[in-house]
Amino acid sequence: MASAEQVKALLKSHITGDESHFFSVAMQVAAHEAKLGHGKLAGELKALIDAAKARPTSKITSKTVPISQPRGELADLLQASYPQARLSDMILDEHVAMRLNRIIKEQQSHAKIRAHGLSPRRKLLLVGPPGTGKTLTASALAGELGIPLFVVRLDALITKYMGETAAKLRQVFETISEVRGVYFFDEFDAIGSQRGLANDVGEIRRVLNSFLQMLEQDQSHSLVIAATNHPEILDYALFRRFDDMIQYGLPEPQQIIAVLKNRLASFKPKRLSWIKLAERAMGLSYADIARAADDSLKDAIIHDRAVITDADIFRMLEERKLISKKLVIDT
Ligand SMILES: Nc1ncnc2c1ncn2[C@@H]1O[C@H](COP(=O)(O)OP(=O)(O)O)[C@@H](O)[C@H]1O
Ligand SMILES: [Mg+2]
Repeated sequence: MASAEQVKALLKSHITGDESHFFSVAMQVAAHEAKLGHGKLAGELKALIDAAKARPTSKITSKTVPISQPRGELADLLQASYPQARLSDMILDEHVAMRLNRIIKEQQSHAKIRAHGLSPRRKLLLVGPPGTGKTLTASALAGELGIPLFVVRLDALITKYMGETAAKLRQVFETISEVRGVYFFDEFDAIGSQRGLANDVGEIRRVLNSFLQMLEQDQSHSLVIAATNHPEILDYALFRRFDDMIQYGLPEPQQIIAVLKNRLASFKPKRLSWIKLAERAMGLSYADIARAADDSLKDAIIHDRAVITDADIFRMLEERKLISKKLVIDT
């Protein structure tokens, strides 16, 4: 039998994620058994260890254990969190739901897929207007897969490190391959185009080219997700680097009603004219509709009203429409 010391060493190395030590102790146990003349047991142990070493997932599991907030220079660039969000928290149209579920399934069976020489979808481009759930999707994918979310602060990357952005980007990609997670490049058009940074077009071009190159070379087990509200300014060279592109749109009546019902659930709304409400809300984003519902709730709470009426919600929806119109005109 393995000695107490060996059992302790096995447990310790398992807990700290020190896989190579774990295997080396396990080999010692097998050798010990062989010496005692327990050839069959030693052979079985050896076979188990070999099989475990051959697992393509072994590297990932040991890497996901000791994660904390990035330190030093990377701290400004990567913001880590452990989202609890789930896809079921989102209201999605069938098309988007199917694609997101497929990504999760492929990720969950990544070892099987890789064993056949294929790779699961992991480089994703999310495209769509603001407030349609792109950022929420990044959280939900991390939540579903139980891996951390790293939001890559592109603004910091570009403005703070002008001249050394490509080097910083390389550091980010090194982390991508070292620590499995969901890496979210929000407002990706900031580097996907030359918009707004005309004062240093050369730099942005370089950053974009390095990004594309690094994305192409990246063979990691992380998910790399880029999101943009402006697909029209991204060129084809960019699109083809991604494994999947998912298009988000404004909600249809059915989804509008689902968002409202979800948000108002705590108030147990009964006699609301859902269809009329949905008509009024057409053209607003998921985020706008969720806000309008929250605004109606707050208003009722402040004024000690026990019910929320159609008129209350109409009012808040109109307010949101005015705000979003103004935002469109201003941009
Ligand atoms: N599809 C959706 N289902 C449910 N709520 C949503 C959805 N999309 C957006 N929301 C709500 O709007 C908020 C902002 O959405 P977000 O994911 O940041 O949009 P985007 O990144 O596309 O601009 C979310 O936190 C959520 O409350
Ligand atoms: Mg967003």
